[in-house]
Amino acid sequence: MTTTATARLRQQDIEFSEDLHDIWTTLYARQLPMVQQHASRLYLEGFDILGMAAKRIPSLPELNAQITPRTNWRTVRTVVRYSDAVPWYHHFAKRQFLITDYMRGRHELDFTPEPDMFHDIFGHLPFMVLPEYTALQELFAPAFLRANNEQRENIKRLAWFSTEFGLIREDDDLKIFGAGLISSHGEIHHIMAGNTPVRPFTIENVIGYEKAIYTYNEVLFEFASLEALKAELARYFDSV
Ligand SMILES: [Fe+2]
Repeated sequence: MTTTATARLRQQDIEFSEDLHDIWTTLYARQLPMVQQHASRLYLEGFDILGMAAKRIPSLPELNAQITPRTNWRTVRTVVRYSDAVPWYHHFAKRQFLITDYMRGRHELDFTPEPDMFHDIFGHLPFMVLPEYTALQELFAPAFLRANNEQRENIKRLAWFSTEFGLIREDDDLKIFGAGLISSHGEIHHIMAGNTPVRPFTIENVIGYEKAIYTYNEVLFEFASLEALKAELARYFDSV
C-alpha cells in the first residue's frame, strides 16, 4: 500500500453532519421492512447480533465491538469513494473491511451507482459478525492476490454476483443475499416483482456475464446455500 493510501485511512472515527445522520435514519427506516421480508436468514441473524444504530450513523468502535470478537475482522474508514480491487483485497487479506465516508444524497435514496457508507455498513456488516460468512469472504483475497489480470477480472465478477448481488434459496424461497441488493430499495422491488432473470450460480455462468454498474442487474445468480456457494467458488479459486 502506498503512503498516500495509508494517509487516507483513519483508525479514528469522524464526526458527520446532522444532515448525513438524517439521511442514514431515512435509509435505515425505509430498508428495514424490506430486509425483514426479503433478506437471507443469515443476514437477519447477523443484523440482530450487530444491533447497529437506527437513528444515527453507527460509529466504527461500536461496530467493531461486535464484529472483531466474533470473526477477527474490523472496519476501517476511508475517504476513497470507490476503492480499487487491489487495495481492497490487500485490506481483506488483513481482515480489514473498508467503509467509505461517502453518503448518497437525498435524490438517490432508491439507488446509487456508487457504494456509499449505507451500503458498506447496512449491507455488509451484519454478515461480518458470522464466522461462517467471513470464511466465505476470506476465500477471495488469497486467490485475487495470486491471480493474473484475466483471473482477477473473473474473481471480481464472482464477488459481484455473490457477496454483492447474489441470491440464495431458502426453503424454496428466493432470498436476497448480496449486500448491494440489501442496501438497494429499488433493486429489491425490481427483483421481487419478477423483473430479473435468475440463473444458477456456476463459475461458467457468472464468468461469461458482464456486470451492470449504472443500472439494475439484467441477470442474477442463485445458490442453494452458503456452503454450496463456497464450494463453487473454491472450484475456481483452487485453479488460480
Ligand atoms: Fe459492497
